[in-house]
Amino acid sequence: MSTTERKLEHIDIVVNENVQSRESTLLEYVRLIHNPLPEHDLNHIDLSKDFCGYTLSAPLVITGITGGHPDAEKINDAISKIVNKFNIAMGVGSQRAAIENSNLTHSFSIVRENAPNAFLIANIGVAQLNKGYGIKEFVKAIEMIKANAIAIHINPGQEAYQDEGDTDFSNLISKIEEINDQLNVPIIIKEVGNGLNKGIVRELRSIGIKCFDTAGLGGTNWIKTESIRSRKKHGFALKEPGKLADFWGNPTALSIIETRISAIDSYIIGSGGIRDGLDAAKAISLGADVAGMAFPILKILKIEGEKGIENYIKNVIYQIKTSIFLSGGENVYSLWKTPLTIWGRLKDELLMRGIEPNEYLNKRLYT
Ligand code: FNR
Repeated sequence: MSTTERKLEHIDIVVNENVQSRESTLLEYVRLIHNPLPEHDLNHIDLSKDFCGYTLSAPLVITGITGGHPDAEKINDAISKIVNKFNIAMGVGSQRAAIENSNLTHSFSIVRENAPNAFLIANIGVAQLNKGYGIKEFVKAIEMIKANAIAIHINPGQEAYQDEGDTDFSNLISKIEEINDQLNVPIIIKEVGNGLNKGIVRELRSIGIKCFDTAGLGGTNWIKTESIRSRKKHGFALKEPGKLADFWGNPTALSIIETRISAIDSYIIGSGGIRDGLDAAKAISLGADVAGMAFPILKILKIEGEKGIENYIKNVIYQIKTSIFLSGGENVYSLWKTPLTIWGRLKDELLMRGIEPNEYLNKRLYT
């Protein structure tokens, strides 16, 4: 099975089966306090946000999905046109297939053609660092799309449940450090749906990593996706995940706070189960710089086409804008100061992790 075929199967399963986690992001345990007299003009709310030294027109990233096949090229073509229109950021999916077969390059490079000035993020899986990948492959991936940053996706849960998964995750931190020292664009360390935590972020920050994508539990679930893929092929999953499929991982809300605590001066994409502008506003208010999403973009593209995603993004942006307005803020940075409550399972889990919610919220000023 080639990397390309596998990627097409992923898209088919993610779109046509339910592979969203049954566990939630825990964002439902966050409430931004309503301000009935905002004292600002809704039309003057400023949604621009600095991200890795680049100014986005809204605090949104469409995180890595695909590339490496004519069908994937169509997806990247559609998404990059929208990204260009709204001046938001976009990641491509793993570029491994095109690094190894240059005939597939255009399915990725089309994003730069369509979005000449956008913030674009290249993508390589961390497991490749134990399979011979080094600086040469990273530079190739970056140059392929003239990327502003490169995401290294860390996905041990997915690899553990993929039939043909690469499960050697030993000694990767020193290899990430080596690559980071040689690159002239930032590395974004990115989970894929099981969430970062404060311990690993602290370690990665200490070797010089300054950008993180939380990709927490509560959205697209890769353990589930791989087990369904295996079941379809063999009639049963070669490695049956049981409850790990729905419940393993650090929920997005928790993951954002843990990431910020360990990397106060970093850029953070809050992602994993972000489905509308209120989710995005909550993610930012908890400590992310911008919010990221993948699944809704792909699903809407398949059902409603390019116009559908354009409309969806327009609505998400307006929802972020009204969340800022209705909480009395005037720009994206206001979300870092806005009063909010945290309760229930999120509060309990934070306390168990040694994080006192009010103390954390009072320190939220990251710039
Ligand atoms: C992904 N994602 C992903 N991430 C990555 O770093 N490299 C990749 O190649 C892919 N491939 C991929 C394919 C498809 C079909 C989807 C939907 C997603 C993961 C993605 O960027 C994101 O981290 C997770 O999906 C969680 O976000 P959502 O989907 O819950 O918004």
